[in-house]
Parts: sequence; structure tokens; C-alpha cells
Amino acid sequence: MKEVKLADNIYYLGVNDRRTHLFENAWPLPYGVAYNSYLINDEKVALIDTVEYGHMEDFLERIDDILDGKTIDYLIINHMEPDHSGAIKQIVNQYPDIQIVGNKKTFPMLEGFFGIEQNHYEVEEGDTIDLGTHKLNFHMIPMVHWPETMVTYESTTQTLFSADAFGSFGTLDGGIFDDEINLNFFEDELRRYYSNIVGKYGNQVQKALSKLGGLEIKQIAATHGPIWRCHIDYILDKYHKWSSYEPEEEGAVIVFGSMYGNTEKMADRMARTLSENGVKNIRVYDASKTHASYIISDIWKYSGLIIGSAAYNGGIFPAVGSLIEKLKNMYIKNRALGIFGSSSWGGGGYRVLEKWAEELNLEHLGPKAEARCAPNANDMELCDQIATEVAQSIKKHNTK
Ligand code: FEO
Repeated sequence: MKEVKLADNIYYLGVNDRRTHLFENAWPLPYGVAYNSYLINDEKVALIDTVEYGHMEDFLERIDDILDGKTIDYLIINHMEPDHSGAIKQIVNQYPDIQIVGNKKTFPMLEGFFGIEQNHYEVEEGDTIDLGTHKLNFHMIPMVHWPETMVTYESTTQTLFSADAFGSFGTLDGGIFDDEINLNFFEDELRRYYSNIVGKYGNQVQKALSKLGGLEIKQIAATHGPIWRCHIDYILDKYHKWSSYEPEEEGAVIVFGSMYGNTEKMADRMARTLSENGVKNIRVYDASKTHASYIISDIWKYSGLIIGSAAYNGGIFPAVGSLIEKLKNMYIKNRALGIFGSSSWGGGGYRVLEKWAEELNLEHLGPKAEARCAPNANDMELCDQIATEVAQSIKKHNTK
């Protein structure tokens, strides 16, 4: 790996993971993921976060090459999740005098995950460590994405080491800085990362944005994805929008669970009605086929959401049940919502969807559309009414 610098004496030390199938053993990685770490080689040396355990050997070699026998004085732990803290134990073994910099919520995790009880250097909001030329300031951003998460701001180069915030799925295939890559590709992976991993914590992200808004920022170096230096307004705008649960574009996701195709027929009917009402971005997903990761990402993007379910064992179809549970956990809001289903003998799917919408305080539009078995003409008419109302609501909503 060639040396890559963010500024004089500030090195990028990221690795690409193209082998892991599921991030957190939960979210698909078709384009892999990058774990980014950074090294500041000043009078004092600071390593900012580490990498996932499986990529440690290469990581340690690159540190050795840069430092050429010099030691590391500080290991800054912005975030303790093991995709970044995986190499800590080896770093501590190799540099036994290293000071481990974290906050009061970091160290119980450090002890819990790795049994490391020494060399703790606790910082609080606004504290500074002077490395010589470079000065590090620390700001707490709890729940973006864990309670101990903080950011490190290097004030002479105005570089924000932002932990998971502003990160992305996708490996860095040659291009490492935002001006070296095609942002069109990364936009979907950025949104999927945000919605899947941080989506639940919109309020906390808003607080973090407000706190960091007072800093002059020339570069954002996250623990995943590209380093931002040319499109900082772009990524900040995205985070403002995503964290406030505001859709980005006019459009609708229709997601259904169907055993024998009857609920799917209702979904297709509504898609056509949306189109007849001028909605151009329409994504119809079978919840059993497409991983929730992608469906959630599109739900974050578009202003309309229609969910349908067949009854299954007196309740909701399992794949739809799992999806709406995730959405509830993420406090989804601000969407033009429609629900529908088929009941067979005792129903269940529609009933669960209705209760779910009520619990989230989401108004669902249009009449009740619950076919008994296969949808008849009247059921389809009810579907038309729902889709028409959703389309009208989408058209009224300003996504700009
Ligand atoms: Fe990339 Fe929350 O760890």
C-alpha cells in the first residue's frame, strides 16, 4: 500500500474488507466495507482508532513502516465497536507504554471486551492533547453510534476524525478522498450505512451536528468510507436530512409479504395507480426476497411507503413483521403511509400493520383494503383509493 496523507504527518491507515458477508453479522456487504484508522506522526505520535481484527497484520506493518522505530504515545479510541477496536490488544502488546485515550464510557467497554485495565487517559468534552504541532480536541457524540462515541478534532489542519459519523459501506477501491471517487456510487452505500446502522439515533445525530457546527472543518475522516475534503456540505446536508427523517426524493416504496401471490397482486395494482398519479420513483419489494437493508435504505430515500401483508398463523407474514419491527426500532416517520393485506380465514397481517402505525403515530391513508383470499374488484378499488391518496400526499410534500 502506498503512503496516503491527509496533511503533513497525518496518514490514512485504512483497510478494505471484501470477505465479510454481513456487517455486524446482520447487514449485507455486496461492495465490502473499509475500516479507516489514522496516524499523526508529530513530536508525540497518536493513532486514531484501529481496524477489525482480521486485518491487523497489514495494519501493524504499515505503522512500523511509517514510524521506523518510533513509539506510539497515544491511542485515541473514538469508538469501541470491535470493527474499530479489534487491533487494540495487539497495539497495547507492541507499545506497552501507550496511553489509551477515551472517555468515562470508553473504559468499561475496553475492560469488558479486551480486559485492558491500565494506561487509561480519560478525556472530557473540550479537552486537548498537544502533540507538538498538532492539537487534538475531543467532543462527545453519544449514540452516534454507541454511548461512548466521541470525535477528535485536529485544530491546525481543521480535520475532524468523526468515528462512524459520515461513514459508508463500500470498500475504497483506489480512490480514498471524496474528489477521487464517483459519489453517485457511494450515495446509495452512504444512505444504506446511515439508515441501517445509525438510523435509530436521529435525535442524537442532530445533537452531534449542532455541536460540531461550531467547528471550522476542512476534512472529515470517518472510520468507514471516503475522506471528505471537497464535498463537506454535501455530506452534512445528507446527515441533516437523514437524521431528521425527511425524505430525499418524491417516490414510494411498496413492500409486501405474499405466500401465493394474492397480496402481491394488490401491491402491483397500487404501483400502477401511483404511476397513473404521476409518481415516477416506485420500488416494489417482496420482503421475503430482498434483504431489509436495501428496503430500509429506500424507505429513507422516498416520501411514500405502502406496506402489505398476508395473514400468517393469525399474525403478520414473518418477513414483513421483521421489517416493521426494525422500522419501529428506528422511529421511522414523515412518510405518506398506506397499509393493506389479505386475511384468509382469521386475518392478522392487516391488524398488526394497523397497530404498528398507531404505535409509531403514523397516519395511514385511504380506506381499509384487506382482501379475504384473492383480491376481488372491490378490493382493487380500495387499493386504488389508498394509492391515490398516497400519491396526492407525496405530491404535496416538498422534498427539496
Ligand atoms: Fe463502525 Fe459502530 O462501528
